[in-house]
Amino acid sequence: MRFLRSSFCSPLVASSSSFLLLVAVIGSCSTVSASTSSNLQATKYNAMFSFGDSVAETGNICVVSSRNATELDVLTCTHPPYGTTYFGRPSCRWSDGRVVVDFIAQSLGLPLLPPSKSKGKDFHRGANMAITGGTAMNFSFYQSLGIEDPVWNHGSLYMQIQWFMELIPSLCGTKQNCKEFLAKSMFQFGGFGGNDYNIQLLELGFTPEQAMKNTPMIINATINGIERLIALGAVHIVVPGILPTGCLPLFLTFFASSSSESDFDQYGCLKSYNRLTEYHNSMLRKQVQILQGKYRSTRIMYADYYSQVYKMVQQPRKFGFSNPFETCCGAGGGKYNFDVGARCGMPGATTACRDPSARLIWDGVHPTEAANKMIADAWLNGPYCTPPILS
Ligand SMILES: *[C@@H]1O[C@H](CO)[C@@H](O)[C@H](O)[C@H]1NC(C)=O
Ligand SMILES: *[C@@H]1O[C@H](CO)[C@@H](O)[C@H](O)[C@H]1NC(C)=O
Ligand SMILES: *[C@@H]1O[C@H](CO)[C@@H](O)[C@H](O)[C@H]1NC(C)=O
Repeated sequence: MRFLRSSFCSPLVASSSSFLLLVAVIGSCSTVSASTSSNLQATKYNAMFSFGDSVAETGNICVVSSRNATELDVLTCTHPPYGTTYFGRPSCRWSDGRVVVDFIAQSLGLPLLPPSKSKGKDFHRGANMAITGGTAMNFSFYQSLGIEDPVWNHGSLYMQIQWFMELIPSLCGTKQNCKEFLAKSMFQFGGFGGNDYNIQLLELGFTPEQAMKNTPMIINATINGIERLIALGAVHIVVPGILPTGCLPLFLTFFASSSSESDFDQYGCLKSYNRLTEYHNSMLRKQVQILQGKYRSTRIMYADYYSQVYKMVQQPRKFGFSNPFETCCGAGGGKYNFDVGARCGMPGATTACRDPSARLIWDGVHPTEAANKMIADAWLNGPYCTPPILS
């Protein structure tokens, strides 16, 4: 409930809190096309390390919450039908199957990345620091704006890098060894920012225009994080942007009623929310270019979630999707099939749509495994990653 508590949306407040923190990260895909290159790539990278939010979550939030049964239960991703397509059970991922980082790891011939917080796991071939609710800014920033209780704010970007640094000695020993080891590792850093905007738009009640004022700071925090990884020895770094907020069923459901026809674009997305996302992504892309110029021996790749998912919204049939706004695992019917009080995994939403592979969005915010796979494939081979990961 904390999420929407403050300035508006009282009818939504009931159980929305947890969900909104999740929103940020998506990822995915491509075991099939990936397999062609995996033999070659398997020898190329020792390991893969990932950072981010719910879009890249592979289990950290469940490890962190496991001491508190109530908190674990509130995490809807721990309930069926999450995981139904690939794992056959909930796997603490916000999808019906794999997320983008899973597909990328598999394509590089690496195992699925264990969550960095899990005990007794072998992290020599990779670890995933991403955690649901992850933000680019420290939580203290949001506290200064009046957000009090840090529900699920267990891991800002800064903290995730700390976790990684604590892990490093066990992976490669000495500083020099680690430089060499990390130079042969693949990094996925983000997307960060999704939750930073969720807090502002959904909890603080900012307009997209107001939230834009904080974009330079959010990008700065992200770029500073990348520079810290480079200082540790990272060379290959994929930097994803964020999803088209204005096309996601959650935002459409929340804001459609207060919007007029002219607030929507010709495909049905909310223009001002997408403008915010585009602003964030274009600034990130530009700063990544500058960083690449500054660190010539690195390979920093900008991965474009926005353009690809927006294309899926514009031409859903081309990707095998029906109505691109209809949540696969949701409730309430209608165009969006999203009800914040009956989100996927909650009592009112315990079944998925008949064919999740024909849907873009799984739970109102996060893509289906099918979409994630296509996204990963386009990052590995182009055209939605500059340069493509496998180039
Ligand atoms: C467990 O989590 C719930 C929900 O976040 C919280 O209200 C409660 O205080 C927590 N209990 C403990 C013992 O930390
Ligand atoms: C960006 O970060 C640098 C140092 O890391 C700081 O000096 C600068 O003020 C920051 N800019 C913004 C807009 O936050
Ligand atoms: C977050 O907190 C750490 C430690 O206090 C600080 O070094 C870092 O600059 C902060 N990051 C941001 C984005 O404010």
